[in-house]
Amino acid sequence: MSKYDKKRLAWLFDNMTDTKSTIGEQVADSGETIPQIAGRVAFEQLKLTGEDVLLDVGTGTGDKAIAAAHICRQVIGIDISKKSLEQARIRAELENLNNVIFAYGAFEEPCVELELALYGITKILAVYSLHHLPDQLKKESLFTLSNLLHRPGRIVIGDIMFFEEPNKHIEKFNEVYYDGGDTDFPSRVEYLTECLKQAGGTTRVEQIHPLVGVIIADFV
Ligand SMILES: C[S@@+](CC[C@H](N)C(=O)[O-])C[C@H]1O[C@@H](n2cnc3c(N)ncnc32)[C@H](O)[C@@H]1O
Repeated sequence: MSKYDKKRLAWLFDNMTDTKSTIGEQVADSGETIPQIAGRVAFEQLKLTGEDVLLDVGTGTGDKAIAAAHICRQVIGIDISKKSLEQARIRAELENLNNVIFAYGAFEEPCVELELALYGITKILAVYSLHHLPDQLKKESLFTLSNLLHRPGRIVIGDIMFFEEPNKHIEKFNEVYYDGGDTDFPSRVEYLTECLKQAGGTTRVEQIHPLVGVIIADFV
């Protein structure tokens, strides 16, 4: 069992040829993997419009940020993996998108390169990224992010999360790409919803799998 180590994580993702949400065995009739379903459902739950400014935290190579840039006014993707950010920028350039920015930033320190409070962020997305942080850091990060969100605003998290005792589902760890505690530190669903409630949100949960769900938090 390892501890949260941001530098090691950044190194691992810098040296990964693909992210978890785009690899792996297909489990659904639709041919999607569980992380892909979590990403799709989370993205749908953003209910994006042309007025929105989206912040995608742990954007990776920018899949969701780029899809969102075709809908939203402005999109900002932040990540701790500089190599992933470079790939995301190249992809945005290939699609001639000039309303998406990719910058270095972490959940716990989102504004390293950009003064995010100036962007009028209305929606925040985190797909398969928040589970890398331990509980207390998740709580602090969700508070920080909720303070960057304009009202009315929405935070959507699609991720590994525990609906019941995880060891009851050990045989399903691979299916959801949970490494059992090396770099992944998923929380109980109740913990995440409580953090969002304490930050001022009203929450709703969609369970996708015994170990994966989507949390939608509205801030008015
Ligand atoms: C599995 S990938 C998911 C990428 C993307 N959200 C997607 O759905 O394709 C997880 C991403 O979270 C990023 N990440 C891990 N810890 C982070 C942190 N503390 N702050 C910001 N990003 C982080 C990793 O660098 C990686 O790009």
